[in-house]
Amino acid sequence: MTDIAAAHYQPSTTRDALAELAPLLDALAGVAIRGEVPGPELLARVAQARPALAEVAKPPNQGEPYSRSILRADDEVEIMLARWRPGHGCAPHDHGGAGGFVIPIEGTFVERRFGWDGPRLVVAERAIRPEGVPIRIASADIHDMTAGSRGLTLHFYSPPASSMRVFDLERAEVLELVGNYGAWIPQGDHPHVPFASIAPKTQAKQMIWVAHTTHYRGGSAEFAVAADTMARELAVTHPDAEVIVSGLHHKADFLAELAGFVNSGRVLSELHLISHAGMYGPMFGSTDWPEQFSPHEWRAMTIPFATDGRAYFHACRTARWFAPFFADVFGVPAFGNYNYTTVSTHKDRFAWAGRQPTKQPDLYMIATPGKKSHGWGGSVRKYLGSAAEPMVQSVPAAALTERSYDRVANLYDRAYTDIKVRDAEWQWVSNRAASARAELGRPLKILEIGCGNGALLRELDDDGLIDFAVGVDSSAGMLGHARERSRDRARLRFLKVDGPELDVPDDHVDVVISFLSFRYLDWDPVMAQIRRVLASDGCGSSTWSNTRCACASSACSSGRPSRMREHDGSGRNSPGTWPR
Ligand SMILES: [Fe+2]
Repeated sequence: MTDIAAAHYQPSTTRDALAELAPLLDALAGVAIRGEVPGPELLARVAQARPALAEVAKPPNQGEPYSRSILRADDEVEIMLARWRPGHGCAPHDHGGAGGFVIPIEGTFVERRFGWDGPRLVVAERAIRPEGVPIRIASADIHDMTAGSRGLTLHFYSPPASSMRVFDLERAEVLELVGNYGAWIPQGDHPHVPFASIAPKTQAKQMIWVAHTTHYRGGSAEFAVAADTMARELAVTHPDAEVIVSGLHHKADFLAELAGFVNSGRVLSELHLISHAGMYGPMFGSTDWPEQFSPHEWRAMTIPFATDGRAYFHACRTARWFAPFFADVFGVPAFGNYNYTTVSTHKDRFAWAGRQPTKQPDLYMIATPGKKSHGWGGSVRKYLGSAAEPMVQSVPAAALTERSYDRVANLYDRAYTDIKVRDAEWQWVSNRAASARAELGRPLKILEIGCGNGALLRELDDDGLIDFAVGVDSSAGMLGHARERSRDRARLRFLKVDGPELDVPDDHVDVVISFLSFRYLDWDPVMAQIRRVLASDGCGSSTWSNTRCACASSACSSGRPSRMREHDGSGRNSPGTWPR
């Protein structure tokens, strides 16, 4: 029955040895075909057959770690005998889908098993393989072996493989070897592919990330409690997900956490960001809080969302512009709050957390009307226990025709008829405008970008601060309200814009203001326009200089005249219809 490749074995002593070995090889082949490893009785016979096996084995060829004597190769099994060059090892390899076992006949071997770590092939296990103890080889195993001072091994593979892969660790490439090859990198050209192309695509670990900001404005301590509450509840409703809470001081912390997720192979099934709306960087002395990522910075970011990932932004008015923007940029549904967002001890309605809110065991971020969105009436409704408003979903590219404030113009108009509901911001802007007027000794020429319903310009006009002012906005609906409410104000004009280009002459205005909408703009072209239109004279003092660009926004943190004057004069507009 034994079908020996006789061509390899010319000496009569070898043929005699093979004949002597045949019954043992038959028995071992049967074990391999059954997917088992030999037991003590067969192994004892193998030990007795050691002289005959040594007789049959060829010496290794020059430059090769072991010789290959094929003792049998049929449809069911391949039997190979290997004489090892002392101290030499083979390359990591697989067995072409075959399984079986290897018996060290002479000498002790070091065997390494390999596994994939992303696109890297790494040592997963290292073992000493003593003489006479079979080494089981599974069909998916990748391993290598190194001989000691001597080495002889007997290999059984079933079914025989017509090819094998040898892994070149230095080049991170795999060679597909078809035919009679050993486990080393052969001479000549062979198909080779990068590890990255063949490494198994492991199932990424899904996680829910609850991030909250820590420093920006007041109330951030409550965010930490709300984040913990949210994480506990998400862990209950998503028992299979890993839920991670991160307190983030700065933008860099946010980015570092994301990089860690990417490097560890995690993907986000849900991103929750608990923060302030973050529109007023310079007012609070910073531009680097996580709330203050610019649209450009968001676009440059890598967020490893799962295919069904989604994002939730628990901050004021995030549903109006930011969530749709985020959905488009990252291609995931994004949820935001339409109105004011506050901390509550109840999830479904507002309930005041008391004077020591961080002592509360549970806090929730809920959307509800409030003073800043709806004036005192909103505040009263809130403290009467107004119901939490559901988050609003934006889906990617679903509302491209409706990305301005047109659809919210009526609501916004009602909410911000009195701009002073934004008390802190109003004080910040109006104080600087008053200082600027005093500095110049005359009323101001003002451009407001994103003027909405014109409420801010009317207030500044009421305070006698305006020579003339132009408000621009992309929302025809908002501008309609602005014009309607400013019919009797000859100093105010309102224009529609469709992009960063401003139809304003060069060196034409004293002050550019962007009160609540500056964070929504593409800053680079807008800043170029601001530099262009700002007048370059009459601004001697540092006080005046610092108020020239009254952007209540992180985009404008420099606010310095030197920066403003860097404009090179290209693309300058003619005076057009602007008031002089
Ligand atoms: Fe092997």
